[in-house]
Amino acid sequence: MRIAIIGIGNVGSALARGFVRAGHQVVLGVRNAGDAKVSSLAQNTNAEVNSPSGAAASADVIVLALPWTAAEEAVRSLGNLKGKIVIDCMNPLAMRNGVLGLDRGFDTSGAEALANWIPDARIVKTLNQVGAELMADNSDLPHRPVMFMASNDAEAKAAVSALLTGLGFEALDAGDLTKARLLEPYGMVWINQALFRGQGRDWAFAAVKRT
Ligand SMILES: NC(=O)c1ccc[n+]([C@@H]2O[C@H](COP(=O)([O-])OP(=O)(O)OC[C@H]3O[C@@H](n4cnc5c(N)ncnc54)[C@H](OP(=O)(O)O)[C@@H]3O)[C@@H](O)[C@H]2O)c1
Repeated sequence: MRIAIIGIGNVGSALARGFVRAGHQVVLGVRNAGDAKVSSLAQNTNAEVNSPSGAAASADVIVLALPWTAAEEAVRSLGNLKGKIVIDCMNPLAMRNGVLGLDRGFDTSGAEALANWIPDARIVKTLNQVGAELMADNSDLPHRPVMFMASNDAEAKAAVSALLTGLGFEALDAGDLTKARLLEPYGMVWINQALFRGQGRDWAFAAVKRT
């Protein structure tokens, strides 16, 4: 698969490494191709570099790894995304009275806002439930970490499921895109444990069941 990564901070750069290791072709969609961190990542992963819209146009799958506050403007400027599979790993984070939380929930989600901005794209909410470090490499964990997906598009979900498997996750189908209303607070459970409950960043959720 040819995968465009828009935003190459913690998550985007981790996923670039993980996807390249899994055998995919990665193109980094960046605002400033001259940035040293861009050339270093491109060199380490053999990824191509392009503008965000150029990268998106050239790829089968587009990963949005942008800060929520920058997302709408950045996503609307990506151009025509008709038929493209878009992986939304963003959590709609916001500070409320000095406490980190989500800026929406219960009856909508960040992923559903995204669907309004790019209605022709095939959005899959996933990869928002674990820290970036374990997206790049989780092979040393004692259990396979789980990663839920929500999407209205069964074919897109199947393609993303295969990508998640390649990254070392057990991909589980959470249902349609409205289930992002569950997955975004679930991402907050990870954040709360990692940042505020002393768990640190090197852990993930796993699904275990009686056989
Ligand atoms: N960090 C985690 O462990 C984690 C885990 C799961 C989900 N998430 C979610 O993933 C998203 C990204 O998190 P992160 O920690 O990777 O953030 P980050 O390190 O701040 O990286 C964000 C990236 O987005 C780029 N960017 C900002 N505005 C842009 C625009 N208009 N066009 C193109 N690129 C733009 C930034 O580029 P510049 O460097 O040029 O500013 C930067 O490379 C967030 O929504 C977060 O909630 C994070």
